[in-house]
Order: sequence, then structure tokens, then C-alpha cells
Amino acid sequence: MSRFLIGFATGVVLVLLALVCYVRFGFVDPRADRPMGALEMKIAMPALDAAVDRRAPSVQNPLQATDDNLTAGMKIYQSNCAGCHGDVVHTHTAFGDSFYPRAPQFAEDAPDMPENQNFYIVAHGVRLSGMPGWKTSLKEQEMWQVTTFLSHMDKLPAPVQAAWKSAAGGVESGVGGGGSADSGAKDEKKDKMEMPAH
Ligand code: HEC
Repeated sequence: MSRFLIGFATGVVLVLLALVCYVRFGFVDPRADRPMGALEMKIAMPALDAAVDRRAPSVQNPLQATDDNLTAGMKIYQSNCAGCHGDVVHTHTAFGDSFYPRAPQFAEDAPDMPENQNFYIVAHGVRLSGMPGWKTSLKEQEMWQVTTFLSHMDKLPAPVQAAWKSAAGGVESGVGGGGSADSGAKDEKKDKMEMPAH
């Protein structure tokens, strides 16, 4: 019995060692422009949802979804988030597709998580992804405003929707190397095509 246990433990240690060597000695593809792995999607995405569900404190959004708060949230979204997550005019940004995991495109698929969880992700970001934690650059009130905007994005009151359209049409997006989300992304595509394939 004890010989079996020693054999079993040695086997486990060897498998773990092989895994560590595999990662440490460069066998993992570091490129972000690869198709998403099916296994990673099946494991990592539910894991992120579960981790946020477990950790996000169950706080109430202190703000009402008034036109003023939604408009303030929209402006924060347009200047900080739209370059990666898209907006009402640029519903799908190529820049968002350049991340691994991809940046979800909220104008195509509105974020449907509870507000305390969206707030938690906005404040802290998502490790090993392109999603930054915003609590160093946005005030708490601003993070709630953008959270309120996220959860009303697909059902905005008409005046806020109109303001969003005009902000998205004319505004230079703050992220993605300047330029609107679309034109920046097109330039990147062109650069990519001129690069030798490896
Ligand atoms: C530089 C690109 C980038 C910027 C800028 C950015 N994000 Fe993200 N965001 C991402 C990526 C990439 C993910 C996906 C992370 C993952 O799935 O692990 C993400 C995920 C999220 C999620 C979780 C969505 C889900 O369904 O799990 C929320 C909510 C979010 N971002 C909100 C925002 C808000 C609000 C802003 C602006 C204040 C913002 N993001 C700015 C790249 C970005």
C-alpha cells in the first residue's frame, strides 16, 4: 500500500514538473492574435464569472438611472472604454478583437451581469487580459455612473441615446492609439498585412 502511495505521489510530482517545464521553457504560444482556444473558453470564462460572483461585494448601486447619470456614464464610456468595447456607431471594433481574451463588444451584446459585479470588474480590471482596473483613474462616483450606463446600454432613454450617437460619431476615442475606434483599427489591419507571417 505504501509503495503504491509513493508511486502515485511520484507520478503526480512528475506530471506537475512536466507542466511547469512546458510553461517555463516557452512552449506556450504568447501571441494574442490567435483564435481563442476552445478549452480555454470552456474553462477560463466560467471561471472568471464564478470568481467575480464569489468576490464582488453585494453592494447596491448608490445612483439612480437618471438621464444625467446615464449621460455622465456615457461620456466616461466614450472616452475610456469605447475604443476596446465598441459604441453605438462602431458596434464592433477590430481593436477589441486584438486582445486575448477578446474585449466583449457591448453594443452587440450588452453586459448583463448584476451591477455590483460590473462595478467590481470596472474597479479592479481582469488579470492577464487587456481589461484595466479603473479605480486609480476614475472616481467612485464615475465608476458607478459608467456601471449604470453599462446596465442600461440597450434600453437608454431617447435623449441619452441621441447624445451617445453624436458623441460616438464625432469623438476621438481615447484608447487604441488615437483616432476613432474604426480608423485606428483599419490602420492596424493594414500594418498587420504588411508584416511577414511567422
Ligand atoms: C484596452 C482595452 C480595454 C479598455 C480600454 C477597457 N476594457 Fe473592459 N475589457 C477588456 C477586455 C480584453 C475584457 C475581457 C476580459 C476577459 O474576458 O477576461 C474586458 C472585460 C470587461 C468587462 C467584463 C465583461 C464580461 O462580460 O465579463 C466589463 C464590464 C468591462 N470590460 C467594462 C469596461 C469599462 C466600463 C471600461 C471603461 C471604463 C473598459 N472596460 C475599458 C478590454 C478593455
